[in-house]
Amino acid sequence: MTTAEIREGFLRYFERQGHLRIPSASLVPFEDDPSVLLTIAGMQPLKSYFLGQAQPPAPRMTSSQKCFRTLDIDQVGRTARHLTFFEMLGNFSIGDYFKDDAIRFGFELSTEVLGFDPEQIWITVFEGMDGVPADDEALEKWVEMGIPRDRIQRLGEADNFWKAGPTGPCGPNTELYLDRGPDFGPDGGPVTGTDRFLEYWNLVFMQYDRSADGALATLPAKNIDTGAGLERLAAILQDKQTVFETDGFRPLVAWAEQASGRGYGTDARVDRAMRVLADHGRAMTFLAADGVRPGNEGRDYILRRIIRRAVSEGAYLGLEPTRLTGLVDVVADGYGDAYPELVAQRSEVIDTVGAEAEQFARTLEQGTRLLEEVLDRSRSAGVISGDDAFRLHDTFGFPLDLTRDAAEEHGLQVDEDGFDRLMGDQRDRARAAGRKGAGVDRQAAEGVASGSPVTQFVGYDQLEVVTTITAMQPQDGGEALAKLATSPFYAEGGGQVSDHGWITGNAGSAEVLDVIRLGDDQVLRLRVDRKSTRLNSSHANISYAVFCL
Ligand code: SER
Repeated sequence: MTTAEIREGFLRYFERQGHLRIPSASLVPFEDDPSVLLTIAGMQPLKSYFLGQAQPPAPRMTSSQKCFRTLDIDQVGRTARHLTFFEMLGNFSIGDYFKDDAIRFGFELSTEVLGFDPEQIWITVFEGMDGVPADDEALEKWVEMGIPRDRIQRLGEADNFWKAGPTGPCGPNTELYLDRGPDFGPDGGPVTGTDRFLEYWNLVFMQYDRSADGALATLPAKNIDTGAGLERLAAILQDKQTVFETDGFRPLVAWAEQASGRGYGTDARVDRAMRVLADHGRAMTFLAADGVRPGNEGRDYILRRIIRRAVSEGAYLGLEPTRLTGLVDVVADGYGDAYPELVAQRSEVIDTVGAEAEQFARTLEQGTRLLEEVLDRSRSAGVISGDDAFRLHDTFGFPLDLTRDAAEEHGLQVDEDGFDRLMGDQRDRARAAGRKGAGVDRQAAEGVASGSPVTQFVGYDQLEVVTTITAMQPQDGGEALAKLATSPFYAEGGGQVSDHGWITGNAGSAEVLDVIRLGDDQVLRLRVDRKSTRLNSSHANISYAVFCL
């Protein structure tokens, strides 16, 4: 079965069982669900129905939901199955059917629609915990469906109790596994934890609401929430070792092969780069089509990180950064039928990805130079310091995972605790600055701008210029606002953050923290080097070398 046939077969089966087919909700969760940055499961958009806060359009629903999980983002490309973006097939009952029917549907769809051999199906059920009994009811229903008791295993909270987050709807679950045979490992069922037994479907008996103190309250009704990863099903049904060889991913890998002139399946490092491009190609296209734009916070940062990682893995294959937009077309062509927003948003997505890739490409070269220095000096200690990792991130926009990748390739560790500490400090500083009010900054910037000529922006062609500072005004905390005659710095706006860089000259030096856009004009926010005593006066007509990073 092709990926599209599996998706359609699943949804049709549940329509025949009286379910309403609902379209996938956006990857950006509703505003009233602050518990997640991105939609992580098919049940997420239905949460208010489970909680009894809203009336569902039908008590039985089925969907193929766009999902995004960042927990294992660093594993993508290194394993057979880790993905960031994926499609989750699901059926839902809001106070309608419960365990019996959910299990019957699970068994019927597995054997009749997907064609799995019942002899190869293994089951896990919840073994119980304080306040929630062992799920003997589910176990007996599976026995009734014909699964022998020795192929049903009990597991604890970590495996067989599902929750959307620390609080909210949750409940015990039963999972369906497929035994891929002795070639994949020893016998013994899912409890062995090997790749021989592949989990392909999770049926959650959603009956509790967990509060912040961990207590479980009973939901207004007993509900069903199930989830089956479409990509994993495709790998099983198409008998592929990894999801990247299934028909859904093949065109993306083929694009990477064609663009780079390299073949998939001959070199492990090349394969990893192509898998990252395939996963991240889908991820960035779906995220941007749902309106996410690259940035420094939350889900915006996830998109930025995804695009930047794709740029650097593409660079490993010798691809120019802007070539990445080619992946958007492959994704829109391949998935546009099921997700029309990909086609509708195609040109905006291409612009978003292209602009971020280009911006990152400009910094990648300088960053790579610094990275090499860092690798050299870290060799004896065997670890890249938190300071260095932070500087790469902060000054050069190098996401931590790129530093981590490079470290690993050189047999080094990264002091991630140190890095996290510095990130935390920076966030605190940013929050404190935010509290002072962006409006005040802007007003001050307008004051600095008035009275000197409009800055000539040359950033599309030049990253370094020699120019003069035409106005400057000291601010609190060692900062200053300044204006240049000619500037290579891109000002924030249009979904992009502003450039960073340096100003240096005889009178001293300063770091460019921010570029404030004022119509066609701009003002720089600087951190003045403490030794640069003369930079705050007599600035006019002194030449400065200005570097945009
Ligand atoms: N919510 C459950 C999961 O994500 C079942 O859909 O696995």
